[in-house]
Amino acid sequence: MVTATAPAPQQCRWHTFTSLARLEQAATQTILEAARAAIASRGAFRIVLAGGSTPRNVYQMLRQTNANGGDAAWRAWNIYFGDERCLPPEHAERNSHMAQQAWLNHVAIPQQQVHTIPAELGAQAAAEHYARDLMNVDEFDLVLLGLGEDGHTASLFPNHDWETATAAALPVHNAPKPPPDRVSLSAQRLSRARAVLFLVSGKGKQQAINAWRAGMPIPAASITPPSGVDVYLDAALLALS
Ligand code: 6PG
Repeated sequence: MVTATAPAPQQCRWHTFTSLARLEQAATQTILEAARAAIASRGAFRIVLAGGSTPRNVYQMLRQTNANGGDAAWRAWNIYFGDERCLPPEHAERNSHMAQQAWLNHVAIPQQQVHTIPAELGAQAAAEHYARDLMNVDEFDLVLLGLGEDGHTASLFPNHDWETATAAALPVHNAPKPPPDRVSLSAQRLSRARAVLFLVSGKGKQQAINAWRAGMPIPAASITPPSGVDVYLDAALLALS
């Protein structure tokens, strides 16, 4: 008899910062350190980027660094995306477009190592395409994630049927955060990572943070990598929770 094993409960480490600038500086250093360690031990760094607006400044700060070794180091970086909006590739609201403008178009990461989600194909086709791409990808070294005001992360939204999904990438329809059609890595695939870092800012996140810290099953709480998750958040958000 096959028994479905529930994922281990999420281990959550909360890190508070007195300003968004300090949070962004710390996140940039954490990413660079994860890259240095991965490249030193495995010759490559596999990072999943978060969408939305919070990570933009971190991506711009990464652009200003030499990735601990200049072009040679950048050539060991492999970029994936945690989710994507079903919009044309150059659309200003595409998560890949934001990361390319802020960072990826300005450093020597080989184009073939930037694995964008082809969300312009439509949610179902793009999810199938990306799931195939990820079949040859072992665990990620670092997954970056954001948090929505309703507790969503990537494009895993409350009251959408993704909890038991086993595919690596999922089509999303009727998303409450526009656009309605998206593609998201599954909770299971986002959890196949050596490290997961949430970047959370904005007063509107207070209710989601409170629910998360109270142990409520918000989507962000479904990300359960073996080593737990780190949450970088504005101290103001923690003070009131
Ligand atoms: C998206 C993101 C989404 C985002 C959160 C937080 O496509 O919108 O993947 O999960 O990370 O909604 O967004 P902000 O950083 O803009 O608050």
